[in-house]
Amino acid sequence: MMLPEKYGVYLGAFEAILKAYCAGLKAPEGLSEGMRYSLLAGGKRIRPVLFFAALDAFGADWEKETELALALECIHTYSLIHDDLPAMDNDDLRRGKPSNHKQFGEGNAILAGDALLSEAFTLSMRAARDENHRRAGEILAHAAGAEGMVAGQYADLAAESDENAGEKELAFIYENKTAQLIRAPLMMAAAIAGREEGKMREFGTALGVLFQMTDDILDVKGEAASMGKTLGKDAEENKLTCVRVYGLAEAERRADELAERAKACLEHMDAETGFFEGLVEYVRKRDR
Ligand code: IPE
Ligand code: IPE
Ligand code: MG
Ligand code: MG
Ligand code: MG
Repeated sequence: MMLPEKYGVYLGAFEAILKAYCAGLKAPEGLSEGMRYSLLAGGKRIRPVLFFAALDAFGADWEKETELALALECIHTYSLIHDDLPAMDNDDLRRGKPSNHKQFGEGNAILAGDALLSEAFTLSMRAARDENHRRAGEILAHAAGAEGMVAGQYADLAAESDENAGEKELAFIYENKTAQLIRAPLMMAAAIAGREEGKMREFGTALGVLFQMTDDILDVKGEAASMGKTLGKDAEENKLTCVRVYGLAEAERRADELAERAKACLEHMDAETGFFEGLVEYVRKRDR
């Protein structure tokens, strides 16, 4: 599936920023090794790319917004390290490599995650040069925390052992564990550019839910080599997914419908939206 043309431009810029950031990490060697291992293992970088693309669409100087782009990927990477732990999803493979705890041990993986989350505070504070940037940092912190991604992860674990969990619980999990950190970069860009956050919130929620639906669908029908993780794990861990709730065919139909709804959100956006239309297509049809 083709990525939107400019994805490579934003991705290339972010990879260079990340590489320089990793080279400058001053934590004790073993700890920084664990942080770098997961940060540099690859990944689609969709959250920083969304941030740059939205800033660009609003006519802001996206190349200057390095700290918050890094903060986004630090928080996402920490969430993956902790998500893979035996006490959570118990996954041995991530981004095509042994999971952080497989490589460095559970205690060190917990600490690498803790450190990456804390780094995101430092980076957000460094970015807070005016009220708009301070607001962007607040959006990110809120999206990551107890009313955001962590709330979704909590509900995700609870649903494993709840036979009555269904559509309502699934919607909460999707909105929080995944859509919060997909819409955050879009809303952060709106805040920095001094634009309305509401439309990006609506679009980002649809895109984020779609992103998790396709993740769940790919866990059933994807290729392990391109996904870089062990597939079939959701059924094994009794995860509440769109496939468990609706069955594969109906889940696919709903994903198509949601992709159309996401594109419709773009119609009234006061910005250049071509990149985002392409991105919706990519997220629906992705193979990794
Ligand atoms: C995986 O996120 C976790 C989900 C929210 C589905 P990504 O699919 O963005 O993982 P990377 O960063 O590309 O490895
Ligand atoms: C993860 O959802 C969401 C996070 C907040 C990390 P999954 O548990 O489905 O993500 P994968 O499949 O392990 O990447
Ligand atoms: Mg999980
Ligand atoms: Mg997982
Ligand atoms: Mg998954």
